[in-house]
Amino acid sequence: MALKLNPVTCPSLYTFPFIALPQSNNTRSYRVSMASTLHSTSRGVENQKKKPFTPPKEVHVQVTHSMPPQKIELFKSLESWAEDNVLVHLKPVEKCWQPQDFLPDPASEGFHEQVMELRKRAKELPDDYFVVLVGDMITEEALPTYQTMLNTLDGVRDETGASLTSWAIWTRAWTAEENRHGDLLNKYLYLSGRVDMKKIEKTIQYLIGSGMDPRTENNPYLGFIYTSFQERATFISHGNTARHAKDHGDLKLAQICGIIASDEKRHETAYTKITEKLFEIDPDGTVLSFADMMRKKISMPAHLMYDGHDDNLFEHFSSVAQRLGVYTAKDYADILEFLVSRWNVEKLEGLSGEGRKAQDYVCGLAPRIKKLEERAQAKKKPSSLVPFSWIFGKEMLV
Ligand SMILES: [Fe+2]
Ligand SMILES: [Fe+2]
Repeated sequence: MALKLNPVTCPSLYTFPFIALPQSNNTRSYRVSMASTLHSTSRGVENQKKKPFTPPKEVHVQVTHSMPPQKIELFKSLESWAEDNVLVHLKPVEKCWQPQDFLPDPASEGFHEQVMELRKRAKELPDDYFVVLVGDMITEEALPTYQTMLNTLDGVRDETGASLTSWAIWTRAWTAEENRHGDLLNKYLYLSGRVDMKKIEKTIQYLIGSGMDPRTENNPYLGFIYTSFQERATFISHGNTARHAKDHGDLKLAQICGIIASDEKRHETAYTKITEKLFEIDPDGTVLSFADMMRKKISMPAHLMYDGHDDNLFEHFSSVAQRLGVYTAKDYADILEFLVSRWNVEKLEGLSGEGRKAQDYVCGLAPRIKKLEERAQAKKKPSSLVPFSWIFGKEMLV
């Protein structure tokens, strides 16, 4: 196994602020937590002056290329399978919705009127809803990071930027589909007049500059498990912002969030299908990877968000999302439960001893998380007010 440890600065893992997920000592990856570094408060102004870019909050040793090189061949051999089974989940551009389908048309006579209507509807939505919608939009807008992440994966990366392998075609077209999500939400929020666009734009720039560390180790087994999880998480989250918009009487915004959620669902189908295939070909390797990812916890893609003010911005945003029921610790456990059943993990046979242990671990994890979450919720109620720069410094309960 070609395992290389890179002691370079990297972001910390962030999963969910409300629960301590069960950990196991038996991890396949070498992980070391190191001291946290820099946001504005931690190392002082002088240090920051010397560095034009603030490095991510925390560092740990990064693991690279953890998949044995011979397994790269497995992904090459799946090329035509991917063409027939994965690329079919992309939508031809001509059949795709575009952000403009859901926004006032700047070339039309009625543009100003349409904008006024949009703003009137937006007035009915509470500030905490906007905090969550902005957080979701910022997450979508960090898309360059996610395309980069997919192209770190051995055996499936886009080697040239215009590679004709099925894997590369998928990644580019997936990125192009995703690009509409941030675009639509960004334009909607701009027109709504409810949020501080400059602070939001700064947050996006910080976030893309910080990157993310999903700890997928250039390993497509880990990478596709991560993306399966994340597509479902975004499907849930956008679905819930749609539901809230509808409850507040804004059917157009509900449609915007709903159409994005339906893309996420289609992407979830593709990524879970890839992982299902890996379970079929290599059940032992795949269940070990699944357990490895869950032990490390699935970090949220925007876990390094920063707006230049709040060192705990992601935790605060997540707390509001939890309070509103847009994305909760229970959702995390539900996604895990869904994936265990989607991939028939309980019924896997012929596993090695290690594989059986990994199987037991992932199959027993969701109920354990739920129990811990219930206890944590009983103890911790949102109790402090925190200002959010995105909504002009208004304070929200976190
Ligand atoms: Fe998306
Ligand atoms: Fe997605």
